[in-house]
Amino acid sequence: MNIIITDTALDMSKKAAEMIVDEVNHYPTLLLALSTGATPIGCYEEIVKMYQDGKVDFSQARCLNMDEYIGLNNNHPQGYYYFMNHHLYQHLNFKQENLFGPCTTSDNHIKSAKEFDQRIEDEGGIDLILLGIGRDGHIAFNMPEDELCLDTHVQQLSKATIQDNARFFDSVDEVPAQAMTIGIQNLFRSKKVIMIANGESKSEIIKKIMEGNTIDTHVPVSLLKLHPHFTLIMDKEAAKLLDKI
Ligand code: PGA
Repeated sequence: MNIIITDTALDMSKKAAEMIVDEVNHYPTLLLALSTGATPIGCYEEIVKMYQDGKVDFSQARCLNMDEYIGLNNNHPQGYYYFMNHHLYQHLNFKQENLFGPCTTSDNHIKSAKEFDQRIEDEGGIDLILLGIGRDGHIAFNMPEDELCLDTHVQQLSKATIQDNARFFDSVDEVPAQAMTIGIQNLFRSKKVIMIANGESKSEIIKKIMEGNTIDTHVPVSLLKLHPHFTLIMDKEAAKLLDKI
């Protein structure tokens, strides 16, 4: 595990953006998997700036969304595709056909999940994932449970996660109770994984990951400690409970 601690959240965003842009410049056709949530927004702003400054070209790159709420289509303002389009895609020169995510509006979620996994396989697998981290240690929407599902699947969201995500909706009652998420297997098969965390609210889960000497399906992020190219970038606030930094 490669650990980078930055002074500020902005520095965290800049560092992650530089690493992503570097990968795109080295491997222009790579398949990215980028996450939603509050944490990566600053990183996406930095990527857009670098693109506008002519430092990177996404015309051959491919990108997927790792999860989507059940029932929300690509145009739904609280949906994750919409989020990515709003913060990133529309500002860059990706080709539309190179952007995809799980379809959650069909009446056959099992089929849609299989199609999503098949597309990832057909595209040759993920090269670089950018993840945030839930306070309970979930990654994408792989929630703390006795067992973790390898493949893309429909996941019941925990009350805490629904509550956390209510800030993006008008009320907590509007947050869908289920999402379709990429499974653990594709997260692990990604050649590289970058995780970003900032702020005091992430400090407890960061301490758990960094100082624990076990892996635990009730803390899904702990499994990433086994990934050979896992980089965790966090600001000082997120790192504040660590004994040694
Ligand atoms: P956040 O979400 O970036 O909005 O804190 C992180 C996550 O749930 O993965």
